[in-house]
Amino acid sequence: MAKIKIEGGNKLSGEIEISGSKNSAVALIPAALLCDETVEISNVPNISDIDSLEEILLYLNANVERKGDTIIIDSSKITNKEIPEELSQKLRASYYFMSSLLGRYKHVEMYFPGGCAIGERPIDQTLKGYRALGATVIEENNKYIIDAETLEGAKLYLDVPSVGATINTILVAVKAKGKTIIENAAKEPEIVNVATFLNNMGAKIKGAGTNVITITGVDYLHKSFHEVIPDRIEAGTYLIIGSLLGENLKIKNIIPSHIESLTSKLIEAGVKMTIEEDNITVSKGENYSSIDIKTLPYPGFPTDLQQPIIPFLTQCKGVSTVEETIYENRFQNIYDTNRMGANIIIKNNHLAKVRGLTPLYGKEVTATDLRGGASMLICGLIAEGTTTIDNIRYILRGYDNICEKLSRVGAKIELI
Ligand code: EPU
Repeated sequence: MAKIKIEGGNKLSGEIEISGSKNSAVALIPAALLCDETVEISNVPNISDIDSLEEILLYLNANVERKGDTIIIDSSKITNKEIPEELSQKLRASYYFMSSLLGRYKHVEMYFPGGCAIGERPIDQTLKGYRALGATVIEENNKYIIDAETLEGAKLYLDVPSVGATINTILVAVKAKGKTIIENAAKEPEIVNVATFLNNMGAKIKGAGTNVITITGVDYLHKSFHEVIPDRIEAGTYLIIGSLLGENLKIKNIIPSHIESLTSKLIEAGVKMTIEEDNITVSKGENYSSIDIKTLPYPGFPTDLQQPIIPFLTQCKGVSTVEETIYENRFQNIYDTNRMGANIIIKNNHLAKVRGLTPLYGKEVTATDLRGGASMLICGLIAEGTTTIDNIRYILRGYDNICEKLSRVGAKIELI
């Protein structure tokens, strides 16, 4: 099985181009099934999660064409059949198909979605959305059986501002009768991207990006061309790397306002960067000081950057704290981080105390999950000696050509 091997300590300079957002693309592709004509989506990242979604599209008999980073989907001849469990289980986003199929056919049978084992990850708010719009949901043998005579707009308050539940409710409401109002909706940029995509096809969605979203159902969605927004988590990961090893490292094709919660924290620790309209240039500084981080829904500090920022905190003087409020199990890689020389204590699985500054040393480590894998990769880049990372399929699910992008700017990193 493939591994990533890194010789640590090399300075990085040049430019890194950020790809399209994973969490946006994985919703846009299933959303395309609601379109009555053909859709074209560009800036799609080259990651294995997209391959898994393409597999599902083909299984449903959609016509799919990929040209570089563009995917063209014609779903006019799809069949509403049960997606095999091993496909649904490959990723969380498989449940966006459940919503699109429900919206289109008013009946769907689907196995529970997968995704990284970073916590319990219930989907009760998605099911609450389905029920509010008039569907009945039966859970049986790891499967949901969902039926609706008609789908009718309704008012819904989400108990937590869930990204998935917000997108799923939008997908079902787009062609439902009348008006749906989602209160306490999630505000992540990926939701705005999905709403814009659907609006460009003729949907009527207002308020995406705020905590109240209103959807007025329409009968027909016409063809459309759409671009995936830049991946803010990929951008953040490389910005952290640049803060540790950069020599005028330019992170390109980004939307800096999407990562303000990260840039403000890095600046507070002492990182110097130049922020321009669609890029940030960063260099390694001296004498970083400790900072405190608490993960929150957007625009708060993203949980998806919590693991990648921990290697940075090991290089800050003093005790930094990281409070994880979204997931119950997102410190799995700390065991390996400590083996490499870090001094991190975890309390009740939701608080990490990172005592810096500690040098790190290359070791054989494991990617426990996608962002945990990215975190270990950053540790390897700054460590003295050789680091080998196992289980890298997690990393490849979410980071487009990560070894190539880093090699091009001077890292000694390879897939073996
Ligand atoms: N939650 C519930 N009930 C629900 C839904 C969520 O209690 O019905 C809770 C979850 O347990 C969690 C919190 O609400 O504590 C947030 O979950 P959310 O639904 O917002 O997350 P998600 O849609 O499952 C997406 C991303 C995650 C990212 C989160 C938060 C995708 C495919 N995944 O997950 O990305 O961490 O939003 O921003 O969009 C990653 O990329 O590594 C990743 C895990």
